[in-house]
Amino acid sequence: MKTGFFQFNPLFGKKEQNISTVLKAAGDVYLDLLVLPEFFATGYQYASHEEVANLSETIPDGHTTNILSKFSREKGIYIVAGLPEKSGDKFYNSAVLTGPGGFIGSYRKTHLFFEENLYFTPGDTGFKVWDTDIGRIGIMICFDWFFPESMRTLALLGADVVAHPSNLVLPFCPDSMPVRCLENHVYAVTANRTGTESRKDNSSLTFIGNSVIVSPKGEILARASEDSDSLMVMDIDPELSRDKALNPYNDLLKDRRPEQYGPLFR
Ligand code: ACM
Repeated sequence: MKTGFFQFNPLFGKKEQNISTVLKAAGDVYLDLLVLPEFFATGYQYASHEEVANLSETIPDGHTTNILSKFSREKGIYIVAGLPEKSGDKFYNSAVLTGPGGFIGSYRKTHLFFEENLYFTPGDTGFKVWDTDIGRIGIMICFDWFFPESMRTLALLGADVVAHPSNLVLPFCPDSMPVRCLENHVYAVTANRTGTESRKDNSSLTFIGNSVIVSPKGEILARASEDSDSLMVMDIDPELSRDKALNPYNDLLKDRRPEQYGPLFR
């Protein structure tokens, strides 16, 4: 399974330009699963409710999802990509999964970061895993990684690969994903962005790049630089994620003892 990310610097509000940057970059590349950043087509730092409303789209019939579905169908590939979703009078930080048959499903970010809390509603979909022709794909979005429950839930749901659209600004994630992958014995693809947005007074956000593909053994298979566009693809074996045994006596999921984890279940 050829799995990759495209890291780039989306320009705020320039949806068509950002989409075209992605389609050009991925057009000639052979891969099965492409992961794109959080809010890949719109940019990240919204400055008003009006901007969020103007840039958000419905899923699955919105413009961006339609274009990704068409691209997926034409190339016969799976894509996971982040976008702001409009649903009734609510807005979610969402990601869609598309495949060779078109739209497959979507996930709404569970743990909102920083000023996302001003504009978006915390996700209500729960974590999800889709069993596809190329393997079982789970999704979490950016700051979700900081909560070990996110990847644990995806692992318990059977994920082989966790697709992780991101707009990271804190420095911790790229070095932490190996532990998340090791403790759950899954692959992860963190697709981050680069660049700086300074769209609000006294509030500038610099995105740290360093997108990574990590193996179930916690090995970093690919890591992009902090500031350049980068499309990286690795050959991965989803079957490796399914064996959770460390030795004949220990299995990472079967050895869990939820009855001893009191506060976790409150
Ligand atoms: C983030 O969740 N965008 C840091």
